[in-house]
Amino acid sequence: MAYAIEAEPIEAIPETSAAERAVADLHAIGASTVNAERVRDSVPLWFHTFSLAPGVYTPGVARDHGYRVPALDAERFAGRSVLDVGAFDGFYSFLAAARGASRVVAVDNEQYVEWVQARFGVTLAGGAGFRAIAELMQSSVDYRLMDALDVRELGERFDVVLCFGILHRVTDPIALLRALADVLEPGGEVVLETYGSRLAANAPAIEVHEPGDVYSRDDFVYWGFSPGGLRRLGLIVGLDELEVVEELDVDGHPRILAVLRAAG
Ligand SMILES: C[S@@+](CC[C@H](N)C(=O)[O-])C[C@H]1O[C@@H](n2cnc3c(N)ncnc32)[C@H](O)[C@@H]1O
Repeated sequence: MAYAIEAEPIEAIPETSAAERAVADLHAIGASTVNAERVRDSVPLWFHTFSLAPGVYTPGVARDHGYRVPALDAERFAGRSVLDVGAFDGFYSFLAAARGASRVVAVDNEQYVEWVQARFGVTLAGGAGFRAIAELMQSSVDYRLMDALDVRELGERFDVVLCFGILHRVTDPIALLRALADVLEPGGEVVLETYGSRLAANAPAIEVHEPGDVYSRDDFVYWGFSPGGLRRLGLIVGLDELEVVEELDVDGHPRILAVLRAAG
């Protein structure tokens, strides 16, 4: 059977924005200009904006990460072990390390390779951005190509799990939260950022999206979460305390930033 496919234009990689440069400056890497430009140009598409050297930034396509900053102070990371699931280029993993984390493990299943190809027409090797930054910084952050659902296989526990931009992308959000809860140290916390919902805040409901209706050429955004929905999901996996840090609109999209903990 033949299908008439109307080719959608591939998006151009946007310019770095001042807002992203401000977030990147929280972790200024301070490389020489020559090394910074070499690293910037060695990766065909960056998700995160990194401040490589004065005035040299990676052109990250991610936007408006500034609202996450209040959940990322040094107090959260100092002396603690951190797991970053869905790390992509690893900005938050490297930030945790720079803010005093005792150990950082970054996990990604590199699903983004497909997304980058579909949206920008760019062929990106999985882990390319992460490796480029890790080498530049001689970083000890440990990177694993792994599905976040499999983190129990790491055989480790963590004080802090960062779960940014991924809960709405997994088909089974309960399984993901349960996997994260299972690798938490007693008293540990999941710092969670995900696609929000326009349902009433206390509605114990989850929105279900159609493929591509949230971001064009992105079929992996399945869910939108209200605080009430996240609270119920947390209860199911034994993370019975939900602190909503922020609910806001980013570029017309609802987002939610929250911390989940097991009640002491
Ligand atoms: C939108 S990006 C978010 C990157 C980063 N956490 C941030 O918020 O800036 C989502 C990332 O999660 C990864 N991902 C999606 N599903 C995953 C899964 N089941 N296991 C591990 N990584 C996953 C994608 O490959 C991508 O790197």
